Amino acid sequence: MRHLMSPLDFNTQELDRLFDLAGDIERNPGKYAHACDGRILATCFYEPSTRTRLSFESAMTRLGGRVIGFSDAASSSASKGESVSDTIRIISCYADICAMRHPKEGAPMVAAEKSGIPVINAGDGGHQHPTQTLTDLLTIRSLKGALSGFTIGLCGDLKFGRTVHSLINALVRYSDIRFVFISPEELRVPDYITEMLKAKGIPYEEVIRLENVMPQLDLLYMTRVQKERFFNEEDYVRLKDFYILNSDKMALAKKDMLVLHPLPRVNEISVEVDNDPRAAYFRQAQYGVYVRMALILTLLEIQV
Ligand code: NCD
Repeated sequence: MRHLMSPLDFNTQELDRLFDLAGDIERNPGKYAHACDGRILATCFYEPSTRTRLSFESAMTRLGGRVIGFSDAASSSASKGESVSDTIRIISCYADICAMRHPKEGAPMVAAEKSGIPVINAGDGGHQHPTQTLTDLLTIRSLKGALSGFTIGLCGDLKFGRTVHSLINALVRYSDIRFVFISPEELRVPDYITEMLKAKGIPYEEVIRLENVMPQLDLLYMTRVQKERFFNEEDYVRLKDFYILNSDKMALAKKDMLVLHPLPRVNEISVEVDNDPRAAYFRQAQYGVYVRMALILTLLEIQV
């Protein structure tokens, strides 16, 4: 039995197979409409979510399966003091696969150890968010044609943003990729990441001003300042509008640069950018459903 805890749990060949499957699902949805008949997905969300939870639900429903779960720790037995390990043992009796989001780093790993069914980490604290990374990789592969040979700017909250940490981890396995980290001093990417890049000899630069690097980027990955992970409100208020991507800044970018964002957006992308053909974040959300469909089939070992 296989779980998905980190994007590195799949090697690059396995990822290629997963993305090929997602592509086939996109082109031939009818072929997969009953692939999960009689199967149940449990969504155990101890932290707020719109996209991730609903895209899992949509994915399982589009495969013909059913979904049970909770979307808030307060409405689960966690509020009575039940441990994640006990909860997953019980969920294993009710469902065939589980997607879990938790504010504590490592909680889905603890669950996986005691689980009788595959567990998917749907975000653990500021740590990892592997299915968002699968979504990001599929989006880049589909819209850019390859997962190598580009300069990617990651902008915003690089300290607390788990999507950023997961994406960097996954991209270092592909060739000829350069990173540009754009953040205020307080929200720089963690040292363990820059140390890993140095050790692997992967080029990166850290800058504060987005305007200065815009012309060199092939991809710009914008992120929200992660309010819920700040220790004090004052720091959040000071940093939340540090970056606002607008048409003036887009005018500095390459004609084929793509803007990605895991969403939800707050202020960091002005709505005027939504109509720019380079804005790919809504298409990215659609790829998230295809890739989660492919992931469910893969972990349940269902061949269509
Ligand atoms: C992200 C998350 O939860 O980390 N959202 C998502 O799953 N698409 C990003 C965020 O909340 O900023």
